[in-house]
Amino acid sequence: MKTCRIFLITALVLTAFGVRAQIVTPEHEARARELVSQMTLDEKLAYIGGYNSFYLRAVPRLGIPEIWFADGPQGIRIDSQSTLFPSGMALAASWDRTLAHRTGAGIGQDARARGIHVMMGPGVNIYRSPLCGRNFEYYGEDPYLAGETAAGYIEGMQGEGVMACMKHFAGNNQEWNRHHISSDIDERTLNEIYLPAFEKGVRRAHVGMVMDYYGLLNGVHATENRYLNIDVLRHRWGFKGIVTSDWEATYTTINAVYNGLDIEMPKGWLLDPQRMKELVGNGVIDERIIDLKVQHVLQTLFSFGFFDRAQKVETIPVRNPLSEQAALDVERGGAVLLRNRDDLLPLTRGKVVVCGPNSELVAKGGGSGEVFPFVTSTVAEGMKKNLGRKLRFGYTPDLWKTDLDAFYADPSCTVRGATAEFFNNPDLEGEPVHTEVVHRIGYKGWESPVPGVVNPDNYSDRYTFYFKPEKDAVLYFSAGGDDGYRVLVDGEELIEQWSGHPFRQKEGYKEFKGGRTYRIAYEHFDGGSEQETMFRYADYLNDPAFIEAVRTADAVVVCVGYDWYLESESWDRPFALPEGHLRCLETILEHTDKAVVVINSGGGVEMAPWIDRTGGVLMAWYQGQQGGDAIAELLTGKISPSGKLPFTLEKRWEDNPVYDNYYPNTDQVKEDNPYKRVEYNEGVFVGYRGYERNGVEPLFPFGFGLSYTTFDYSGLKAEAAGDGEFIVSFDVTNTGRYDAAEVAQLYVGDVESSVVRPAKELKGYEKIFLKRGETRRVEIRLDEEAFRHYDCIRRDFVVEPGDFDLFVGTSSQDIRLKTRINVK
Ligand code: BGC
Repeated sequence: MKTCRIFLITALVLTAFGVRAQIVTPEHEARARELVSQMTLDEKLAYIGGYNSFYLRAVPRLGIPEIWFADGPQGIRIDSQSTLFPSGMALAASWDRTLAHRTGAGIGQDARARGIHVMMGPGVNIYRSPLCGRNFEYYGEDPYLAGETAAGYIEGMQGEGVMACMKHFAGNNQEWNRHHISSDIDERTLNEIYLPAFEKGVRRAHVGMVMDYYGLLNGVHATENRYLNIDVLRHRWGFKGIVTSDWEATYTTINAVYNGLDIEMPKGWLLDPQRMKELVGNGVIDERIIDLKVQHVLQTLFSFGFFDRAQKVETIPVRNPLSEQAALDVERGGAVLLRNRDDLLPLTRGKVVVCGPNSELVAKGGGSGEVFPFVTSTVAEGMKKNLGRKLRFGYTPDLWKTDLDAFYADPSCTVRGATAEFFNNPDLEGEPVHTEVVHRIGYKGWESPVPGVVNPDNYSDRYTFYFKPEKDAVLYFSAGGDDGYRVLVDGEELIEQWSGHPFRQKEGYKEFKGGRTYRIAYEHFDGGSEQETMFRYADYLNDPAFIEAVRTADAVVVCVGYDWYLESESWDRPFALPEGHLRCLETILEHTDKAVVVINSGGGVEMAPWIDRTGGVLMAWYQGQQGGDAIAELLTGKISPSGKLPFTLEKRWEDNPVYDNYYPNTDQVKEDNPYKRVEYNEGVFVGYRGYERNGVEPLFPFGFGLSYTTFDYSGLKAEAAGDGEFIVSFDVTNTGRYDAAEVAQLYVGDVESSVVRPAKELKGYEKIFLKRGETRRVEIRLDEEAFRHYDCIRRDFVVEPGDFDLFVGTSSQDIRLKTRINVK
């Protein structure tokens, strides 16, 4: 038997370009102070606003280097390719500190390879509702899990010499109306639930930068919120780094200046140098407060060594095998198996059908968290690689068709294909300069699609085709373009992204009535540089051969869920699966009870209406660039699933403890409030804390995830280790047939307290890999953080001496061992 101390050793090995923790020392402060004293007022005022969207300007006269920022947090989002990591929720679901560290280190190395100084991540807000559009970037509903994951990520990244920017401080738990919504959170709830992950990022991981979010906390915008930026961040946590605004999240000048914001991004609009100079001139703004902001920035840059070394490391490849491997491993460890009826999985023999709208794409969350990878692997591709002599495809998973054989170029449906028209303007205006019948839509290049006729830098094209199904039919469309593109059915937009941008892609679905003729058009324009058109469709749901394959298959892998344009920052999403995806799933479920549903999403999805009719469900999250390989390895048993839910999955959204306190069921305070107000009336009872208190049975509890093997727990001991700390130890044995990893979870409950507290709260966990039959002793140290609660009278955390229950289990509800300790 070995004691589990895996994390530290692996983390050290991974820090290939290791730099010491970036702690601001008195020396850095002195160097910064000296520089500030040499800067003119104009230089200082210009310095605290970004420029060129993602930069802090250089001051060559004083040797201050230009600082380059990039998004975050799933990899590097700039106008070129980079490693796309699985979403934050997948990382949290791995419950693996090593993977968190490797993710941060991998992204850090990708940044060094490009010369980027600051990465805008991690995102550490708490998952409160499944609807929040940014859940995918975050680390779930529990502050301890979120904090541990965040700290690992930050330490990994900063160990590579890249500054992490932890966001979005604080209370950004919905994306709806994000500039104008106030999260009204009482002080205890804020400190126990919504701040601890930030606290760990600052105190333990020494994050260099914190980003204030768009919305308001208790009626005051984050960028001017003294409680957040000064009382908590600076005074209580001792933060010496930089406070930045989110992009266009500064709303006033004076309040922002005096309440802790250091820099305004992406430029100084409210902190406009001219306006500020006048305010300094007439005494409204004290120049010393400007000095302090510049001081915060410079001392942090010194602590990262940005003055003393080049940020770009030529020896790190831009396409970096180390970060690609980390990305793949996160999905291997983070996908959560929720259902496996009668051990349908792993798939080792027989015929398998792979289908569904997401089977041939790598779905990802949208917005600033989106990354464009060098390499991708879809579930269909991954499954193909993992077939064998005994496991075969029951239907060729070439689901998207690019030929236009199902359509006609003329309304009377006599000529197969589509009529293409090209216009030498971007608006499809006037007479076409070229017309022809084509059999596929797909062009990529810098040259004109019709040389000598169509202007390659300023044109538009329309492909019109007619569809006349004999019987009712369903078609899925996948279209893309560089620049704008759209798909219209009988003049109605089905897919639309009509703006200038690099290649982007969207899907859509439509039901058609048999016997009717429909006019379909793919339209595109190009505004310069490279051009690309793409159109494909899937009609397999109408194909009797496909339905027969489904009926006779030993398993049908159905890939459904969201993608970047359905789940993203700036808006919230519904709880149910997207309509076309649900339709596809329901059709499959009519013909088989062996469907294994693979879900792409950033958080909870409504499953109760259909899950009982499935054979299996795998939460794949957004799986990252080559996650298709990882998913296939999990489905075929090369690896046993070991991810666990980082949130509670409800049967109905109404069951969620925050339901009554999430818009539109909130904002009942007063009609004429200037801001929408979300009152967090559930208090600390968010997630499993709330389900347990309300006695509501979720579909799957927090911490739940199936494995192909079984684990036994025994021998629980809790020993006092001095200074109010305890060492909790127990044995975990792999009693099943597969080598596999397990996440052993430790929850703590206060037996008697002067305030109402949750029945239990996660305070420790360890992910351990066990071979068949192997036993390991797990050791978890509990310090005062495990027992404390926030006292709103003393305005600080306190530990009330007395009895505490310790619960050890494989999920928040499957508790295997229990003991009681007395905290003095
Ligand atoms: C997002 C931030 C991001 C920033 C820069 C904002 O819209 O909220 O998370 O870092 O844009 O892209």
